[in-house]
Amino acid sequence: MAFLMECCTLIVNVLCMPLHLIHAVGMYEIYKRFFPMCLNRCSIMYNKKMYDKKKELFRSLSGFNKPGGQLTILEIGCGTGANFEFYPPGCKVICTDPNPHFQKYLKKNMGDNDQLSYERFLVASGEDMGSVESESVDVVVCTLVLCSVNNIPQTLREARRMLRPGGAFFFQEHVVADPSTWTYFFQHVLQPLWYYFGDGCEVTRETWKHLEAAGFSELKLRHIETPLMFLIKPHIVGYAVK
Ligand SMILES: C[S@@+](CC[C@H](N)C(=O)[O-])C[C@H]1O[C@@H](n2cnc3c(N)ncnc32)[C@H](O)[C@@H]1O
Repeated sequence: MAFLMECCTLIVNVLCMPLHLIHAVGMYEIYKRFFPMCLNRCSIMYNKKMYDKKKELFRSLSGFNKPGGQLTILEIGCGTGANFEFYPPGCKVICTDPNPHFQKYLKKNMGDNDQLSYERFLVASGEDMGSVESESVDVVVCTLVLCSVNNIPQTLREARRMLRPGGAFFFQEHVVADPSTWTYFFQHVLQPLWYYFGDGCEVTRETWKHLEAAGFSELKLRHIETPLMFLIKPHIVGYAVK
């Protein structure tokens, strides 16, 4: 089976040669302008199918508010702002994403969710959040982002640095399937193509291992099967306390 998987992956890689070339000469960057439009449509569908799961996850957010304080949430890779509707009213949100072309969709979602206050939109990658003060936020949120960052351990280090002691890192991420399944097989075979469609997204990551190794004091993590298309069906969801 492993041999068949390697052969099929090689074939897909060869078929993706024009995309690899476009990437190598830097022309793939153009896609970053169109990706927000694609993601906006996908996020609406994702939220419909995952409404209950997100609602359940983000219900615990308020538990990380300091008594008498305003809950401060920093979102890494906020994209179009698809999580805003799940945040508790009155909280302060710091939006960050390395792609500046999300502004239009972000503004719309901010307008639709004016029960929140938005501090700023910071164009930054999760690996380098240098302009955010250490121990300055109650919660860091990351959904469908750890599949795309270049360096998961560094992103988690930054999240821990920004969190106040007792604050929490909330996540909902698709991950690699069980190796005995066809989903695992197709995740590996189609990965070279999916990478370009998903703006650098990898469906073959064992993200939970990084969360387990990140040094949080408490980790609440569940593996779930979602009602989404097979490549992104397996998810992990939960939060980790600093
Ligand atoms: C699939 S989208 C998810 C967006 C949003 N979090 C959501 O749940 O709808 C992936 C997001 O990760 C962002 N991203 C990619 N590389 C990143 C990095 N190194 N650091 C932070 N965000 C990144 C992309 O720009 C994009 O907004």
